[in-house]
Amino acid sequence: MIKTDVLIIGSGIGGLTTAIKIAEKMPELKITILTKTNEEESNTRYAQGGVAAVWNKEEDSYQKHLEDTLDAGDGLCNEDIVNIVVNEGPERVQEIIDWGARFDKNAAEKYDLGREGGHSENRILHYKDLTGWEIQRTLLAKAEVLNLDIQEHYFAVDLITQHHLGYNITRLTPGITCYGAHVLNKHTGKMETILSRMTILATGGAGQVYRNTTNPVIASGDGISMLYRAKGHIENMEFIQFHPTALFNPAGENPVFLVSEAVRGYGGILKTRDGKEFMEKYDPRKSLAPRDIVARAIDNEMKLNGEECMFLDCRHLDKEGFLAHFPTIYEKCKSIGVDPMEDMIPVVPACHYVCGGIKVDDIGRSSLYNLYACGECTCTGLHGANRLASNSLLEALVFADRIAQDVVQNLSGVLFAEGIPEWNATSTTDPKEMVLITQSLKELKEIMSSYVGIVRSNVRLKRALDRMFLLYNETEGLYNTTTISPQLCELRNLITIGYLITRSASMRHESRGLHYTTDYPVKKPFIQDSIL
Ligand code: FAD
Ligand code: SIN
Repeated sequence: MIKTDVLIIGSGIGGLTTAIKIAEKMPELKITILTKTNEEESNTRYAQGGVAAVWNKEEDSYQKHLEDTLDAGDGLCNEDIVNIVVNEGPERVQEIIDWGARFDKNAAEKYDLGREGGHSENRILHYKDLTGWEIQRTLLAKAEVLNLDIQEHYFAVDLITQHHLGYNITRLTPGITCYGAHVLNKHTGKMETILSRMTILATGGAGQVYRNTTNPVIASGDGISMLYRAKGHIENMEFIQFHPTALFNPAGENPVFLVSEAVRGYGGILKTRDGKEFMEKYDPRKSLAPRDIVARAIDNEMKLNGEECMFLDCRHLDKEGFLAHFPTIYEKCKSIGVDPMEDMIPVVPACHYVCGGIKVDDIGRSSLYNLYACGECTCTGLHGANRLASNSLLEALVFADRIAQDVVQNLSGVLFAEGIPEWNATSTTDPKEMVLITQSLKELKEIMSSYVGIVRSNVRLKRALDRMFLLYNETEGLYNTTTISPQLCELRNLITIGYLITRSASMRHESRGLHYTTDYPVKKPFIQDSIL
């Protein structure tokens, strides 16, 4: 049994920033960061567009950023949280700049602020189209300077609570407390028990529950599922953001490659195959409307025109500028035979971001004692029914700081739990047929993509739930009888995610933000959060 003062699960922007901030304030603590593959692999690493923050105070203001966020969130944002993130954001961004993050500047040596959908001003700091890579690089370098303990290839399987001491815990039990986690050491294939005084889930998104996603394969919603199994509160899972412009590659790839919204901010225009603009039919902001509107419009045009994709026209843009801003996108398009300066880029919506997740308060505390959550796995109230572009990295920076302050203030009052038993692996055998896992995963992705996508209906949601119960029962059977593997755990977690999305969608009898259903096409006059 391993003991660590602070256990952080995840090495993306949420996990690393929290760890750095705690370590800077209390270097004497034992802080352990777990990551299920290598330390660089995360959604963070693939972020393209950048970090939204009010930088140019002559033209921009906190009020404008707040209003844009609320507008995108379609009535479901928590205004206090939006205020906190928008106001504290620039200072947090300055901190990572001080740690070495490079953001592009213009000829006047001022930050080259980009524009994305739903923003009324240019306020996106970026490093070419590789902002996430630059942030991940910076945070890992800072973690190295602080000598932080990052354990690669450690897969967190379940949170430890009173349940493991033999108590019967339900979602209504008061005082559920987190004592650490059971984790799979992928080097040895053995389960280990890690006891911690405080734990932070920073496990990122869950895009892999859909067939087409911009998220890397690690995005299997593990933290959200672990918290749900530990009987914690999850919120607003029906709000799944589909990015309007993933690159359409007929060869198929997982993940699909993103064509950043910043390309539209730079002047790219959405068109049909025969070169007609269509966005003015849907929103006066045209190609730069918020994502829910643009993704639905593309989906609708694809259905109307019987097409597999729509097109992003960049042929009128200056080549030198395009290459300077979007070198990776340019190269990727070329690699599949599309020259953005001569051909329209084929694009298709793809699952991109989970707006809901672990319900946390304004300092990142989950409904379990001594358990915080940070980053994409959370529902802080910032995004409401639809996240404003480039607000996600900002949210993680702001909440990491708040969590670190709270951990530092309160850790002395928290002791390690006593009497936690080791993981019980008796009566399990090695899995005989991997196909049982891989085929179930394919089925799950098909169900979610066909029935719980951009447009939903009661019949589709019911069908999805019925099919998922079958998968759930089969997978639980497998889980209870075979030795644990990352693939089996991810399948189990993704089934939970699929269930949470579909159940929350079934509970929302209106269309709002990212949730659109043909049975209830209009918004209700009152606000309802879907808590599970
Ligand atoms: P992640 O960065 O995903 O990190 C999760 C970590 O948890 C990983 O280290 C993973 O290995 C670990 N982990 C997960 N499960 C387990 C487990 N069971 N055990 C151990 N470790 C585990 N947002 C913006 O604001 N601006 C952008 O420009 C932008 N562009 C994007 C482009 C793409 C292609 C994608 C996919 C996302 C983009 N986003 C953007 C969203 C943003 O990148 C993410 O929301 C954010 O980086 C999430 O950070 P995180 O720390 O919460 O999670
Ligand atoms: C993008 O670059 O389009 C992604 C931005 C985001 O998801 O916030």
